[in-house]
Amino acid sequence: MGFIRHKNSAYSTLQLFLLICSCFSQISTAIDTISVNQSIRDNETLVSNGQKFKLGFFSPGNSSHRYVGIMFNLPVMTVIWVANRENPINDSSGIMKISGDGNLVIFNGQNIVWSSNISTYVVNSSAQILDTGNLVLYNSNGGIIWESFLHPSDSFVEKMKIITDSTTKERNTLTSWRSSNDPGPGRFTRGIVPSQIPQYYIWKDGYPYWRSGPWNGHEFNGIPTTKLSYKRGLHFVSDHPGSGYFIFTLLNSVLIYDQLNASGIILEKRWSDKIRDWEVTWASQKSECDVYGKCGNFGVCYAAGRPMCSCFPGFDPRSNEEWNEGNWTLGCKRRRSLQCGRNIAGGENEGFLKMSRVKLPDNAKWFPMFETECRSECLNNCSCIAYAYYAGVGCMIWDEGLIDVQKFSSDGADLYIRLADSELGNKKDQKAIVATTVVLGIIFISACAYFLGKLFLNNKAAVYSATILEYLTAEVLKLAGNASKDLKVKGITPRQLQLAIHGDVELDTTLIKGTIAGGGDFSHSQIFVYL
Ligand SMILES: *[C@@H]1O[C@H](CO)[C@@H](O)[C@H](O)[C@H]1NC(C)=O
Ligand SMILES: *[C@@H]1O[C@H](CO)[C@@H](O)[C@H](O)[C@H]1NC(C)=O
Ligand SMILES: *[C@@H]1O[C@H](CO)[C@@H](O)[C@H](O)[C@H]1NC(C)=O
Ligand SMILES: *[C@@H]1O[C@H](CO)[C@@H](O)[C@H](O)[C@H]1NC(C)=O
Ligand SMILES: *[C@@H]1O[C@H](CO)[C@@H](O)[C@H](O)[C@H]1NC(C)=O
Ligand SMILES: *[C@@H]1O[C@H](CO)[C@@H](O)[C@H](O)[C@H]1NC(C)=O
Ligand SMILES: *[C@@H]1O[C@H](CO)[C@@H](O)[C@H](O)[C@H]1NC(C)=O
Ligand SMILES: *[C@@H]1O[C@H](CO)[C@@H](O)[C@H](O)[C@H]1NC(C)=O
Ligand SMILES: *[C@@H]1O[C@H](CO)[C@@H](O)[C@H](O)[C@H]1NC(C)=O
Repeated sequence: MGFIRHKNSAYSTLQLFLLICSCFSQISTAIDTISVNQSIRDNETLVSNGQKFKLGFFSPGNSSHRYVGIMFNLPVMTVIWVANRENPINDSSGIMKISGDGNLVIFNGQNIVWSSNISTYVVNSSAQILDTGNLVLYNSNGGIIWESFLHPSDSFVEKMKIITDSTTKERNTLTSWRSSNDPGPGRFTRGIVPSQIPQYYIWKDGYPYWRSGPWNGHEFNGIPTTKLSYKRGLHFVSDHPGSGYFIFTLLNSVLIYDQLNASGIILEKRWSDKIRDWEVTWASQKSECDVYGKCGNFGVCYAAGRPMCSCFPGFDPRSNEEWNEGNWTLGCKRRRSLQCGRNIAGGENEGFLKMSRVKLPDNAKWFPMFETECRSECLNNCSCIAYAYYAGVGCMIWDEGLIDVQKFSSDGADLYIRLADSELGNKKDQKAIVATTVVLGIIFISACAYFLGKLFLNNKAAVYSATILEYLTAEVLKLAGNASKDLKVKGITPRQLQLAIHGDVELDTTLIKGTIAGGGDFSHSQIFVYL
């Protein structure tokens, strides 16, 4: 300051005195509370106790409209909350005060343009801007009857909560501005939904637009090497299942907040003393793959891929034409439907294909299970199309579709997709062939026994010739072959054998029932156990 360098000490003392005076007067005028019958005008502000935030009238961007907002108390106007965002005041006649019924209200001269809308009548309420940036309305006993943190605008600041409550269905969502000149509610909202799997969403006109992926207690599955600066201070707090809130607290005195901008992108900003402005330290959209469902249902997005969308293994594009033109919204369909649901004994064997380093699909169902249970829960339920066991979250099962999946080059989670054996790798196929051969063997031997028995019962000579054995083998194979032809598949699997046997009444009722445990579902384990 000037006076320190000044040689005239008397003058410096005077300056110092004036400085102290001005500091004092500033502190005495910097009130943080308004009470009944008090008000603030367009040219006045409330400043929080620790000088971090202020409340007052402002005009955004190139607009001349007046709004009441909460701002960081910094040289760069940084609005984190707006009261009358839908009803701007067109001149400087605005007044904010506590009304007779205890509400905090904003007048434009004559009319109320905004109210805190508390429903019960309260006497002697008062409003205070806290050093967290929260504007709080108290009743005369100091109880909180309304607070701006529960009615957020577009910014998420330290100690604020993004809440969902599965019992009261209550949640607080952030809403973007219409544009940087208009703080009116825009098309984008941000929040969480009641679930056992906490994750952020951004919605555009109410439809998902972005998703963080599940929070595992340390990071979001969909944000690889989560670069959020406040990550270490971020917590999901839940006191009962399906409910909870995100909150962050900073470990040092840096200023960080994030904002859902008018284009639907979360920008994390950090105050830099060096440039005396905000620096964007993270943005929710790094590539097109971050747009929700970019590759449609059963599509996988890989930002470095050309094209970036591909179908899950075992799936083909729904519309090749659109797909090739780079319109992936229709997604993919299963090449061959899973047999499991058909309730026919011995459907084709199914297994899981592991996909590593992915952003897990949306709409998972959560099960309180360990990993092995999770796998068998999925395998044993025909509706299950995929599962994942993600540390910090647990067992997740999908039964509707696989939407908003990304492939990362690092991080991410493992996803296990249910596929018919024929769609799985070679190992599985070989196993299936082995199983088929063994079953054929059993059937063959049993068939021999059956026909021989029949011959004996008919009191005919026991003709134990190679010709008969050959005939039986041919018969079984032919039947199985027909079944496989009907299903338009190549090769013979245990299922087709069983269909064939079911088709031949005599073979079925007399012979096989006793041999192949009641014709239940074939699975590898069953076949091998059986042997
Ligand atoms: C507020 O103003 C009204 C009307 O002027 C008055 O009746 C009331 O006592 C005032 N309240 C306080 C707390 O000063
Ligand atoms: C605000 O403006 C009013 C007149 O419109 C004036 O009386 C008052 O002193 C001003 N207050 C401040 C803090 O400038
Ligand atoms: C403010 O700027 C936007 C573009 O940034 C422009 O479209 C608009 O007309 C401007 N409004 C005024 C009042 O100048
Ligand atoms: C401000 O709005 C009021 C009505 O809300 C209108 O009567 C008045 O003319 C407007 N003033 C200006 C300067 O646009
Ligand atoms: C208060 O209630 C009125 C009437 O129900 C409504 O138009 C207004 O948007 C509400 N204001 C807030 C801030 O919720
Ligand atoms: C409200 O405040 C006024 C003035 O401070 C006081 O006289 C009155 O008793 C208070 N009323 C209640 C219900 O606390
Ligand atoms: C929102 O942020 C993105 C990324 O920084 C930027 O490209 C876009 O222009 C911003 N939108 C607005 C309306 O400022
Ligand atoms: C992409 O395909 C969908 C579904 O067929 C269609 O509704 C949409 O208009 C297409 N988008 C573009 C940009 O062609
Ligand atoms: C199978 O999964 C569906 C959907 O997740 C569920 O509704 C059903 O109860 C499950 N069935 C069994 C037997 O677990």
